[in-house]
Amino acid sequence: MRSYFIIAGIMCLFIVYASCSGNHAGQNQQPAPQTNESGDNTYVPGLGEFMNTIQLHHSKLWFEGLNQNWPLARYETDEMKETFAGLQKYVTGRPEVEDVPMINASIDSMEIAIASKNLSRFKSAFTLMTNACNNCHYATNHAFIVITIPTQPPVTNQQFEIKDEK
Ligand code: HEC
Repeated sequence: MRSYFIIAGIMCLFIVYASCSGNHAGQNQQPAPQTNESGDNTYVPGLGEFMNTIQLHHSKLWFEGLNQNWPLARYETDEMKETFAGLQKYVTGRPEVEDVPMINASIDSMEIAIASKNLSRFKSAFTLMTNACNNCHYATNHAFIVITIPTQPPVTNQQFEIKDEK
């Protein structure tokens, strides 16, 4: 009779343990995937991810301009504009996005410099653009993100010199 109670007691303990560990498993579940405004699971890059793409365009643009590769520099500027437009469209819930137009005047200057195929104008427009990047970082409490004029090409698998202007 005594051993019967011991076995029943062990079984009770086991049931309690199993239900407790079940709860823990529930707590350890992965958080639900991030959803966009419409509530589906479509992936939307964050503001920082758009910025990393913009940083790459900014850096490539410098070497394209230095090499007076104007068709490529024009293309790169267009890509940068598209990335800014994309973040304005898709990044929701970040009030900083309202400050994106701070970059517009420098993009206009860049387009004029490229159209006039003028290296010194390009350099001034690039400095203006770099300052505009930093002004917005400052205005949006990200003054610790400092963009500079690059000293080395960002990639080694693309040609920035112009070979055959078409
Ligand atoms: C809206 C104003 C604004 C403008 C204009 C702007 N940025 Fe930013 N940038 C931000 C904000 C805000 C962040 C912080 C993003 C975050 O919190 O994820 C940021 C972050 C960054 C980062 C850090 C990304 C990372 O994850 O490491 C880089 C690099 C960057 N910006 C580059 C640039 C460059 C280059 C330009 C100019 C061509 C530029 N930004 C123009 C607002 C701006």
